[in-house]
Amino acid sequence: MDKLSPGDNSLSLYVLRSLPEHYFEVVVDAGCGSGRQTMVLASDLGTPIQAIDSYQPFLNRLNRRAKEKGLAHLVRGHCMDMKDIPSVFPTIDLLWAEGAAYNIGFANALATWRRAIKPDGFAVVSELCWLREEIPDAVSEFFRWGYPDMQSGPQNIAIAEQAGYKIFNTYTVPREAWIKDYYDVLESRAKSLVNHPDVGVRNFAVETLKEIEMFKISQDSYGYVFFVLQR
Ligand SMILES: C[S@@+](CC[C@H](N)C(=O)[O-])C[C@H]1O[C@@H](n2cnc3c(N)ncnc32)[C@H](O)[C@@H]1O
Repeated sequence: MDKLSPGDNSLSLYVLRSLPEHYFEVVVDAGCGSGRQTMVLASDLGTPIQAIDSYQPFLNRLNRRAKEKGLAHLVRGHCMDMKDIPSVFPTIDLLWAEGAAYNIGFANALATWRRAIKPDGFAVVSELCWLREEIPDAVSEFFRWGYPDMQSGPQNIAIAEQAGYKIFNTYTVPREAWIKDYYDVLESRAKSLVNHPDVGVRNFAVETLKEIEMFKISQDSYGYVFFVLQR
């Protein structure tokens, strides 16, 4: 899929342009996937983007996409673990991570990456958060198992402050950005795989449909939030 987490190009661009006027020399896109947001960063900043993912097929897709958009000269793919970013890129001006930090734990990701971010440099990290106190029982049960570390927005702000960042701003990803080109694609694909001969595929399809069902009944009790952080 071209989009591997809830998000939207216009929102990525809006958040990027909300940063103070600044020349970002070293830009890292952590957990870039197939590169939706990488293309936004490259075309708007016009500087090289170090796109990091641990799954080479996503990077292959990112490279194809960059070529198609005439951005290949600005997109550098690296197949590596995002926890190793500080040893490979020790002086970062802007670290971007959409829907990816949770893979190494939000708090751990922020603390790890801070070591590599220049003083006054930025980290823009989106993270799944509880948005309301009233959560439908089925939803809280699903995430108790699916993402037990999920925190509220204020809790994640406290985590970011503890990790040594100033909070520059936060933005909540709108509901439509979960559906368009993401759940609307994923739902039909998952439905077509629920009877797959491989039990692993079947289970993943069923789990995906359950996740989408939770979203439908969530009453906006959770969502993705961009944390715009300054070192
Ligand atoms: C949910 S996807 C989001 C991708 C992309 N940012 C987007 O929004 O379309 C998370 C990405 O993180 C990558 N990933 C997971 N664990 C990783 C790790 N430890 N180091 C680097 N990439 C990782 C996955 O391969 C996947 O591409």
